[in-house]
Amino acid sequence: MKAAIYPGSFDPVTYGHLDVIRRAADIFDELTVSVLNNHLKTPLFSVEERVKILEEATKDIPNVKVDFFSGLLIDYAQKKGVHVAIRGLRAITDFEYELQIAQTNKLLSKGELDTVFLTTSLEYAYLSSSSVKEIASFNGDITMCVPEFVARLIYKKYGHG
Ligand code: PNS
Repeated sequence: MKAAIYPGSFDPVTYGHLDVIRRAADIFDELTVSVLNNHLKTPLFSVEERVKILEEATKDIPNVKVDFFSGLLIDYAQKKGVHVAIRGLRAITDFEYELQIAQTNKLLSKGELDTVFLTTSLEYAYLSSSSVKEIASFNGDITMCVPEFVARLIYKKYGHG
């Protein structure tokens, strides 16, 4: 069975992430979307909230599971017995950063963890969780960026509910 992990902050999940999730789930038998519990960042949504949102947003894809992790991705992947990490590549600006993480993970894992990149569909190429949050904080329209139920939750966080 071919399994993969799609790690990320997903704060919040966008249509860009969901596009990558759908396409990765078509390629792999089992995909675990895993939320990083990062103590260095102050997220808009807690890990528990992000897991719940992802579960709701992916409930129609049977081979997708949602989880969370802390610490190094290579340790989490090893514990799960998974050898492939999925990452989305939007524009060229992502490349340098993603290449660095992928190479570091390959080295740290002694060759055990490979990264498979999916290029984000063009319509989502410039979409990011950060810009979605910025737009929502000014009560701008984010309905083309995230599913409706996610948009409602984001607006509520910014007091626009
Ligand atoms: O959605 P993001 O914030 O771009 O995701 C980044 C993520 C979670 C893939 C990356 O920060 C990560 O894997 N962090 C876990 C810590 C780790 O393994 N670091 C070593 C790679 S340099």
